[in-house]
Amino acid sequence: MNRPGREVYHLPVMVTEVVGLLVTKVDGTYLDLTAGGGGHLKALAEVLDEKAGLYAVDRDPAAVQWVERALAGFLQFKKVIKAAFGDIAGVVAQFEEKTFDGIFLDLGLSSRQVDEGERGFSFQSDGPLDMRFDTETGTTAADLINILDERELGKLFKTFGEEKLASKIARAVVRERQKKMILTTAQLREIVLEVVRPPYQIKSLARVFQALRMAVNRELEELQKVLPAAVTLLRPGGRLAVISYHSLEDRTVKNFFQQAARGCVCPPHLPQCVCGQKPSLRILTKKPVTPQKSEIEKNSRARSARLRVAEKI
Ligand SMILES: C[S@@+](CC[C@H](N)C(=O)[O-])C[C@H]1O[C@@H](n2cnc3c(N)ncnc32)[C@H](O)[C@@H]1O
Repeated sequence: MNRPGREVYHLPVMVTEVVGLLVTKVDGTYLDLTAGGGGHLKALAEVLDEKAGLYAVDRDPAAVQWVERALAGFLQFKKVIKAAFGDIAGVVAQFEEKTFDGIFLDLGLSSRQVDEGERGFSFQSDGPLDMRFDTETGTTAADLINILDERELGKLFKTFGEEKLASKIARAVVRERQKKMILTTAQLREIVLEVVRPPYQIKSLARVFQALRMAVNRELEELQKVLPAAVTLLRPGGRLAVISYHSLEDRTVKNFFQQAARGCVCPPHLPQCVCGQKPSLRILTKKPVTPQKSEIEKNSRARSARLRVAEKI
């Protein structure tokens, strides 16, 4: 796997595609809701002119600090704040601009977060079972692993990880935690390896860790909250671009875009519309945009990326 070194926070994915589809006005106002290492922000700053405004958000205080420094030299860059994008309305109240020509989401986690063992995101290194994007608050993965009952754990692994052996893994977790609390990624890894046989072990580990991360950070809830809120903050003709990295997220984005492009939510058996809802988006990517082969060769973490873009009507 190609991994950026520590001096590279994160290799941004599909930069050319994002910039090309998101930017409609070089003097416009843009909002990046997943600032990360600021790779997309920098690429945007480079094509925008000096009258443009670039705002950013990340839930991870380390990312916010990094972006403050990395973007400091760009006149277009106005502000980055630490917040969860699900609270976008409250977030925007802290910016000078309240509406945008483009809003961007690059879901999931950064390479820096994966590579720092002490964040607990990776089953490849030993660290505390944390997995919070926001290291200052909230429930950790260890809390969930030690508190949820067997049925809840099984449901979590199944729903967010689509893991076939979810119930067996949940049973093993509960059995092990009766002997000793499960506090590290290595402990959880061992439990999964006991239950799952080769050659499926790595895939199951990835699914179990993904499921926990999604639950800890309430990722689907955040996404479901941000999508409609983002549309209300877009100016007419403004664009919403979302990169997702697994099918649960991509499906959520796709369904939201389709619903917003349709407008009417009346049941199909009604002869005419009674809800009166008008379309609010025009979909610009009938199929999701995926990275070029050459990008995946350079950055294996790009391989599952799907970019969808829609324009406010
Ligand atoms: C894939 S990285 C973004 C990388 C970035 N585009 C770049 O070029 O470096 C995803 C980022 O989103 C942040 N994030 C995830 N969920 C979030 C949420 N609900 N609110 C705000 N930030 C979130 C993570 O902390 C992480 O830094």
